[in-house]
Amino acid sequence: MQTNKITAVILAAGQGTRMKSSHPKVLHQILGRPMIAYLLDTLINLGISDILLVVGYQAEKVQEALQDYPVRFVVQEPQLGTGHAVQMAMAAVPPETQEVMVLCGDAPLISGESIDALRQLHKNHQAAVTIQTVVLPDGLHYGRVVRDEAGRVTAVLQSKDSVDRPEILAIREINTGAYSFDSQFLREALDQIPKSPVTGEIYLTDLIHIAKAQGRAVEALIDPDVDSLLGINSRSELAQATQTVKRKINARHMDRGVTLMDPEFTYIETGVTIGRDTVIYPNVYLQGNTVIGENCLIESTVKIVDSTLEDGVHIKMGCVITQSRLGKGADMGPFAHLRPLSDLRPGVHVGNFVEVKKSVLHEGVKAGHLTYLGDAEVGPGTNVGAGTITCNYDGAKKHKTTIEEGAFIGSNTALVAPVIIGAGAYVGAGSTITKDVPPGQLGISRARQVNLERRLIGKKKEQG
Ligand code: UD1
Ligand code: CA
Repeated sequence: MQTNKITAVILAAGQGTRMKSSHPKVLHQILGRPMIAYLLDTLINLGISDILLVVGYQAEKVQEALQDYPVRFVVQEPQLGTGHAVQMAMAAVPPETQEVMVLCGDAPLISGESIDALRQLHKNHQAAVTIQTVVLPDGLHYGRVVRDEAGRVTAVLQSKDSVDRPEILAIREINTGAYSFDSQFLREALDQIPKSPVTGEIYLTDLIHIAKAQGRAVEALIDPDVDSLLGINSRSELAQATQTVKRKINARHMDRGVTLMDPEFTYIETGVTIGRDTVIYPNVYLQGNTVIGENCLIESTVKIVDSTLEDGVHIKMGCVITQSRLGKGADMGPFAHLRPLSDLRPGVHVGNFVEVKKSVLHEGVKAGHLTYLGDAEVGPGTNVGAGTITCNYDGAKKHKTTIEEGAFIGSNTALVAPVIIGAGAYVGAGSTITKDVPPGQLGISRARQVNLERRLIGKKKEQG
């Protein structure tokens, strides 16, 4: 909607001391993604393409984590405050930029609507600076927005610098750390910021009274979206931000026709899609690029990562599914595990305590109980008995097991790969199969049962 040439500067150089962490703050995750990724996506979706990211503390780690994003990095070393961070970035702001937006990497949940509203107000008033504020029940550690009798913003004062000024600490309108600046004003005024007498830092917020002193317009937009605008400085604020993201995502799915039995305990990452009339029980984690079809039922305590479920799939309690696929109407669990590259075709049934890895189970395969299928291809309609194990690993290499259409694998069977069980073949229960079983034949390999008189057994023992 705006036509101004804009550069966004994101401040992310600080250590985030209050996180008590050895990782840079902006890389702490919210539902599987670094917090700063949310902000970058929002800017990119708005079409803001010139993005400068100010890094400092563990700069390389941040740069590496964000290497796929179209951002330009500016290194701020040492970190002397938010004003100093923008001073460092300014050299990289193109001369033709008219508007510089400054955002905090640790307040990453700001919405596109909030950014647009801030920019619109800024443009309408041709302000030198427009700040975004929220009103809290208690201003906590945030910067306080000071207004004159006419209600005009005159300054933002840091709480740390105001400990002996209760009238300032009593202010409940706080600075969120998102601003639009007139680029020319910013370029000239940045050098005029004094050091805080209390902390020695150079505060970006001092530009507000500098603008005022120059007779320039300062505007402030009180934004109602408090939960999305608060900074993340501690683990408990990180947890609150996670709740905010979770609730937004879950609300979106419910609006689109998904039943979440208890949305407070359903954790769905941003990249997940879910079809209508799917029902999800509590304590379910849907992660990465997971795609879930319509009319699925996902019971409690299930984790699904980077996987696809077609329509009508039923996942019973306690399953883990990673990088796998379940065809229409397939069902699994309770307590079953699909490891990467498991491909369960339509109508497959995988029951309790079954593990599948890198295997194709063709239509209608049933593996009901206590089974491991690894590096296997199992033909349509095959019945895999309880306790069947593919012995796919010889200590050095992995080998393939092929079971052709309509075979029947008796219970407690070890299939020592590489091995082929032909179409329609039978394997007797308790066998250790080391050779191929031709189609239609019965493979059996176990010691023949002998039944002895009980008194003979007693005699043997005495002799031994
Ligand atoms: C800052 C604001 C405060 C506001 C709050 C909102 C200042 C002086 N204070 O306080 O008014 O209410 O945000 O969350 O601006 N950073 C750098 N380089 C530095 C220092 C900080 O890049 O030298 C980055 C941090 O990594 C962070 C952001 O700037 O992403 C804000 O810094 P932080 O130290 O968290 O400031 P607050 O005390 O939260
Ligand atoms: Ca902060």
